[in-house]
Amino acid sequence: MLELKNVTKVFPNGTVALERVNIKVERGDFIYIVGESGAGKTTLLRLIHRDEKPTKGVFLYENDVVEKRFKDYIWKRRVQLSYQDFMLMEERTVFENVSLPLQITGKSFSEIHNKVESILLPLKLQHKMFVLVRELSGGEKQRISLARAVIGEPEILLLDEPLGNLDKNTAEIIMDFIDAINEKGTTVIMSTHHMVERSTTPKKIIKLHNGRVIFKGYV
Ligand SMILES: Nc1ncnc2c1ncn2[C@@H]1O[C@H](COP(=O)(O)OP(=O)(O)OP(=O)(O)O)[C@@H](O)[C@H]1O
Ligand SMILES: [Mg+2]
Repeated sequence: MLELKNVTKVFPNGTVALERVNIKVERGDFIYIVGESGAGKTTLLRLIHRDEKPTKGVFLYENDVVEKRFKDYIWKRRVQLSYQDFMLMEERTVFENVSLPLQITGKSFSEIHNKVESILLPLKLQHKMFVLVRELSGGEKQRISLARAVIGEPEILLLDEPLGNLDKNTAEIIMDFIDAINEKGTTVIMSTHHMVERSTTPKKIIKLHNGRVIFKGYV
């Protein structure tokens, strides 16, 4: 479905964050991106989300060059990213943050409310729906960022360290939630230092080191 061919990202200060990365993503894949801090995981996810442009190389979507086929805003409806540093609106409520991707769809308030509730429930945050984001804990913010990314039912879900601020129990609840979304057909690409051992279907794993892919396999 999605293919990165020889993708290199050099930042203006000269840092080479990714170097000649080749990755093929099939529809319905669950891919873990691993590697030490600074390896290039966030940069890779931000490139796929088109927050940044590659310095060299191409992205193909069903064999078409992505920039030619999709305008930025259309791509960002299909591909949602839950950021490592959340990128939430701190002075707005959980409801306002999570429902943002639905505001432009012309749905009624009660439809939006029901949808937000149905996502907050499995994330164990339904009681925080009308609380300001700045009043939440780190792990709660992380789950809100995940809720906002999944609410528009994207085709590709990008998750940057979604378990980083969570205790083991909560991490397992969140992994169940992400697995269920993947099982319904959403392609998931997730960076993590905290792989949860599980006995569900095998997942692909891509290991980065200094911006290069050094391992591709299955877990
Ligand atoms: N905007 C930027 N300008 C310059 N260099 C950057 C920028 N963003 C990231 N880098 C550099 O690119 C490299 C890869 O960073 P990246 O954030 O992708 O790593 P990461 O694998 O996500 O690390 P972590 O596990 O700590 O989140 C690092 O050397 C980082 O310092
Ligand atoms: Mg990162």
